[in-house]
Amino acid sequence: MDQKLQQLRNSTIKEISGIKSRVDLNRLYLKIFGSSGEFTLLLKSIPELPKEVRPKIGKLANQVKKELEQAILIKGRDLEKGRLTEKMDVTFPAVLPPLGHLHIVTKAIEEIVLIFEKIGFNNRHYREIEWDWYAFESLNMPKNHPARDDFETFYIDEPPSPSFGQMVLSPHTSSGQVREMEALKSRPPVRMINIAKCYRPNWDLTHTPMFHQFEGLVVDKGINITHLKGTLDYFAREFFGSERKTRLRPFHFQFTEPSFEVDINCGICLGKGKLENGENCRFCKSGWLELGGAGMVHPEVLKAGKINSQDYTGFAFGWGIERTYMMKSGTRLDDIRLLYGNDIRFLEQF
Ligand code: PHE
Repeated sequence: MDQKLQQLRNSTIKEISGIKSRVDLNRLYLKIFGSSGEFTLLLKSIPELPKEVRPKIGKLANQVKKELEQAILIKGRDLEKGRLTEKMDVTFPAVLPPLGHLHIVTKAIEEIVLIFEKIGFNNRHYREIEWDWYAFESLNMPKNHPARDDFETFYIDEPPSPSFGQMVLSPHTSSGQVREMEALKSRPPVRMINIAKCYRPNWDLTHTPMFHQFEGLVVDKGINITHLKGTLDYFAREFFGSERKTRLRPFHFQFTEPSFEVDINCGICLGKGKLENGENCRFCKSGWLELGGAGMVHPEVLKAGKINSQDYTGFAFGWGIERTYMMKSGTRLDDIRLLYGNDIRFLEQF
């Protein structure tokens, strides 16, 4: 028995040194220590030995086991190292991690902010959850006024505040107008660009329930409609390029007087209303797309912001960012919902 153990040790050590792969090493381990492995069988036969030699053999068996396990472990490490050094080629080009980029809406926001910062507008972000007072009442839309129907709204199921009314998800960035007047302690000049998320319960080709608007507000002495027109023209030139056209249509908003709607010719059919194959343009239908509203600030709104409407006048405009971005040349996008679909194949194109 003594000899058998010594032999097993010597032959196994020799075998280990010749091994070249992990698989063979595992196989060897099982051949020795598996349930019917050579060492296991020897160990099992110890109880059959005369009582007086058992302790000595037991001790030797333990020692052999330790030695062999150690040798297998070391061999395993060597094989691993060999595998690594073999593959390590420092001149080999590394696999680059996937690199993302900003979402197109974020990029549009940055671009828009930059354009308005150049002409002295302050960049603000007013609230997504707002009081009825800021979203409607202070904007000359008293309760039950039919104009409120134009701003379908998510109401928050909480008791109303005695002075500010119901809590809502802000349906437009105009909710920031009176907030900005208050933030400036009602002391013009006001020159703000307010960019925020807005919410209305609509879901179709041109609407998502959450969208972004940017709202311009200027209040100062002697502000008139030519300043509004000049600012809109400046923005259209900077953002869309000189080849795109805008037009103003008379409109109605409670918080501006007079009010307009600003349109731009469709970037998909380029104002024709029809595609090259003769089909109606699915996106615009008429060749023109509404960007959003604009107008001269209503005296009632100045009053709500505690600004003297005898001394001061102002203009405001509020447009959807998604829509505005899609009107930009080169962006032939005919379903606004794709922007929030999280399909990387779509998003990585921009
Ligand atoms: N708040 C209006 C809307 O969401 C747009 C608007 C802003 C109109 C400012 C006039 C002045 O439709």
